[in-house]
Amino acid sequence: MINLKSPTEIESVRVAGRIAAGTLDFLASKIKPGVTTEKLDSLGHEYILEHGGTPSSLGYRGFPKSMCISINDEVVHGIPGKRRINEGDIVKVDVTVYKDGFHGDTARTFMVGQVPPKARDLVEVTRRSLELGIEVVQEGARLGDVGAAIQEYVESNGYSVVRSFVGHGIGRNFHEDPQVPHYGRRGTGLRLKEGMVFTIEPMINEGHWEVKVLGDGWTAVTKDGKLSAQFEHTLAVTGNGADILTL
Ligand code: MF3
Ligand code: CO
Ligand code: CO
Repeated sequence: MINLKSPTEIESVRVAGRIAAGTLDFLASKIKPGVTTEKLDSLGHEYILEHGGTPSSLGYRGFPKSMCISINDEVVHGIPGKRRINEGDIVKVDVTVYKDGFHGDTARTFMVGQVPPKARDLVEVTRRSLELGIEVVQEGARLGDVGAAIQEYVESNGYSVVRSFVGHGIGRNFHEDPQVPHYGRRGTGLRLKEGMVFTIEPMINEGHWEVKVLGDGWTAVTKDGKLSAQFEHTLAVTGNGADILTL
């Protein structure tokens, strides 16, 4: 069941989303060789609390930390810990903030120092694929149009779209209907309506799209050990395109 949000509710998602985006801005300068992912997590946790929010991920289905940090071949849901960031890594940080009854969810891939050209290209293609998906969003468009725009661009650049994780509705709950695949066929799928609020969060692999989950029960990695990148925004459908709520 998809619940449409009122303008007031959308503003509440924006308040939470802005704190999540601010957390990523704040962490950007802290992501350096030698820092542990648990240090980044605790700095981000403090930032969220100082801004009046709480981290949605902490305790979500038993997730033990305040955000997901996934490095190189880790696709999503990496658990912050003792691992240290290295020069040349690509680091995905995914932050969701809860404030005044609503969630906002956003992720970026950070490049640490001198990153190999191949990795840089993957990150740029992933960033662009999210923009292209967002450009398709408007009242009357269909979710298959969004997925197709992302998939066609990604595959024409020689990369692949992860299938087993998708974007999602968001609002009073962290994850709501609908599911938002980053692949698909034009003219198929749910028709978008004003007041729908969901994430688009393409996970793009350098090699094959298959992933597996590690023994910690959370960390998803590429099956072939190659790199993966991700960007995520939360947005609202308006009569006049997408309104990005995580800027
Ligand atoms: N933020 C992730 C998403 O984009 C979900 C993380 S769930 C967690 O949907 F428990 F791992 F934090
Ligand atoms: Co997220
Ligand atoms: Co999400």
